[in-house]
Parts: sequence; structure tokens; C-alpha cells
Amino acid sequence: MASRVTFVCVLFCLILCPAFGKHLKAVSHFSFFRGNPRWPVGQSDLTYAFGQNFPDSFVPPVVSAFDEWASGSGYFTFSRVADIVTSDLKISFQRMSHGDRDFNGTGGALAHAFAPTNGTLHFDADENWSLGPGPVANAIDFKSVALHEIGHLLGLGHSQFRDAVMWESISRGTVKDKLTSDDIQGIKVLYGLN
Ligand SMILES: *[C@@H]1O[C@H](CO)[C@@H](O)[C@H](O)[C@H]1NC(C)=O
Ligand SMILES: *[C@@H]1O[C@H](CO)[C@@H](O)[C@H](O)[C@H]1NC(C)=O
Ligand SMILES: *[C@@H]1O[C@H](CO)[C@@H](O)[C@H](O)[C@H]1NC(C)=O
Repeated sequence: MASRVTFVCVLFCLILCPAFGKHLKAVSHFSFFRGNPRWPVGQSDLTYAFGQNFPDSFVPPVVSAFDEWASGSGYFTFSRVADIVTSDLKISFQRMSHGDRDFNGTGGALAHAFAPTNGTLHFDADENWSLGPGPVANAIDFKSVALHEIGHLLGLGHSQFRDAVMWESISRGTVKDKLTSDDIQGIKVLYGLN
């Protein structure tokens, strides 16, 4: 009797476990904006431009964050243009009240970006930004935040997965400058990619 129970159990495990394992891996934590707004089909080559006062030293981390999303999605490409009025994506530093969603000085929101196809990304000029390399105590890693905000520009909301770039917050002295499989799965599901 005991051996029969064991056998049944082993049999069930062989049948169910592979499926169950796959199911566990497929659990997703990413999210989209209400109504799943996204860039229209055929608009995967997006242009971006920086605001007038955007410091040169902050450009490379943004370029590198775009590279991450390009390779992570295997779909989007991003190219820099000069004219922020006509570019798809518009990146600038702002402070306090600036015409859309207010920043409030140091602390609180670090940056914000609007859902497709708005294209606007604002960094809070009053934050203590770090350009690295690596984690810098008491400073906010700029590239990590750029990577997160570009996710919003492409249509991703916040992830419930703490390790994801799209998790809702980042602590000072922390670097999160690589997309996780959750972030990548999110963008692929939103755009129907495989
Ligand atoms: C901004 O808001 C955050 C969070 O509410 C708070 O910790 C911070 O002190 C505020 N900063 C200013 C300058 O009001
Ligand atoms: C993006 O959204 C913000 C907030 O609603 C708005 O102020 C801004 O005009 C929009 N920009 C574009 C290019 O649609
Ligand atoms: C700002 O960041 C620097 C490191 O770049 C750190 O030494 C300094 O303490 C931070 N300032 C504040 C006010 O947190």
C-alpha cells in the first residue's frame, strides 16, 4: 500500500511538476497604464531630444538606458534629434511647479514620465543625483531612474516585483541599471512580441 501511494505521488509529480514549474516562472508582476496605452504599430523607431539646459554629463546614462530597452525589447530603437518640439520623447530637468505634475524639492518624487504617446520625461532638478559609477552613498543613481522612467514612456506601470526596474521606488545609494526578466516580459506582452 505504501509503495503504491509513493508511486502515485511520484507519477503525479512527474506529470504536474514540470507544468507547475513553468507556471511559477510565468507569474508576472509587471503592469500597464489604464487602457494599456502604447506606441502604435509601426512606430518602434522613436526619436528623443533633451531640454535646453540639460547637462552634457547626464546624457550618456540616458543613452545607455535607451540601449537597455532597445536590446531588452528587441523591438524599439531610439535616436537622438535636436528638436524637442517634434521629437517623440522629450527629456528635461524641472523643479517644483512646472506646468504638469509638481515636484516638491528634495525627496518625494524623483522624476515622472507620462504614458504613451505623450513622451514627456521630467527629472527633478532638486534631487541629489549620482552619475556613479556604482552605488554612491546618499545619492540617487541617475541611470537607474532613467531606465525606470523610459519604461513608463513605453507604457509600463509599476511592477509588484521588488527587484524589477519598474518597482515603484528606489533607495539612495542603490543601483538598478539592468532590466530584469519581469521588465522585459512586461514590454513583450504589451507589444505582443516574443
Ligand atoms: C517632498 O515630499 C517628500 C515626501 O512627501 C518629503 O519627504 C519632503 O520633505 C518634501 N520636500 C519638500 C522640500 O517639501
Ligand atoms: C503630456 O502630459 C502632460 C500632463 O498631462 C501635459 O501637460 C503635456 O502637455 C503632455 N505633452 C504632450 C506632448 O502631449
Ligand atoms: C549627495 O550625494 C553625495 C555623493 O554624491 C553625498 O556625499 C552627499 O552626502 C549627498 N548629500 C545629501 C544632502 O544627501
